[in-house]
Amino acid sequence: MSGPRVVVVTGASSGIGRAAALRASEKGDHVVLAARGAGSLKEAADECRDAGAASALVVPADVGDDAAVEELFARVRRTHPGVDAVVHAAGVVAYGRTEDVPAEVFEGVLRTNLVGSINVSRHAIRIFRAQESGTLVLTGSVIGHIAVPSMSPYVLSKWGVRALARQLQVENRDLKDVHISYVAPGGVDTPIYEQAATYDGFLGRPPPPVASPEKVGRIAVRQLDHPRARTQVNLSNHVIRAGFTVVPHVYDLLVGPLFRFVAMDGTKRVGPTEGNVLASVEEGNHVRGTQGNPFAGIVRNGIAAVRRR
Ligand SMILES: NC(=O)c1ccc[n+]([C@@H]2O[C@H](COP(=O)([O-])OP(=O)(O)OC[C@H]3O[C@@H](n4cnc5c(N)ncnc54)[C@H](OP(=O)(O)O)[C@@H]3O)[C@@H](O)[C@H]2O)c1
Repeated sequence: MSGPRVVVVTGASSGIGRAAALRASEKGDHVVLAARGAGSLKEAADECRDAGAASALVVPADVGDDAAVEELFARVRRTHPGVDAVVHAAGVVAYGRTEDVPAEVFEGVLRTNLVGSINVSRHAIRIFRAQESGTLVLTGSVIGHIAVPSMSPYVLSKWGVRALARQLQVENRDLKDVHISYVAPGGVDTPIYEQAATYDGFLGRPPPPVASPEKVGRIAVRQLDHPRARTQVNLSNHVIRAGFTVVPHVYDLLVGPLFRFVAMDGTKRVGPTEGNVLASVEEGNHVRGTQGNPFAGIVRNGIAAVRRR
């Protein structure tokens, strides 16, 4: 593909989506920025224009609402002749056991992460198939390959996103210029952990090795020139997946205590809170999170555990 391309980014006001939109802007593409909150999208659009975007269009939309997603793409088609790529990075998290997360919040995570991915895919692929070209990048997670304590709705949603990507790859084999890329990060330093709903008593945090949102954004945008069916962002994803699949008894024994130490902030009690699952919390939308060095976080968890005893 040669630019300027038309690149639609969902979840464009924060984290990986915002970083991907900036990356596409640095390449001189037209970017279309979607998320629920208009204010943080407008901030992101200003940054995109400064970074070199050919244009930056803001379209507030809830990806869980099929009519809103349809209108998002209709708006793009009224502004641009076609759509070259969609980077779908909208997502939310809820912490808690299956029986502890309220039904509305549980369904809210599935609605944004899984139904949202289906809605975006439906409308993007209709356009791509009519054009006979286009790249859809779906953001999964290492958590879409494993089970972890206290992230029930997120785990289920991300297994679904992985299945969706695989299904779409099979369905679109006939068009050689229509590509479905599945990108699965491990821990990424974004606000998603601080924005999460939590019914676990503690906040989550990105487990090491932590990638930057800029790195994942670059990988997502690279798919536009070099589409790959599947990309695991960190090598550690392969180790975790192998443990889950090859030695499930050992995995099940270790994942509980390890997860508490490396992927939760055990230093202070929080919640219960619905976070940004049911509505945007715009003041929390930024490219990076604020939880600092993950290894220092693990040490602090150790000290807190000793003190609790
Ligand atoms: N951070 C990680 O460690 C990590 C690891 C693996 C995978 N991922 C995945 O990467 C993707 C991006 O996550 P992130 O870490 O960049 O999160 P983030 O910083 O919290 O950004 C999430 C973005 O999604 C938007 N969003 C949330 N719900 C939405 C909805 N219903 N409709 C439209 N937009 C919505 C948010 O804006 P509004 O709230 O204003 O709508 C925001 O722009 C997600 O799919 C996540 O699961 C993240």
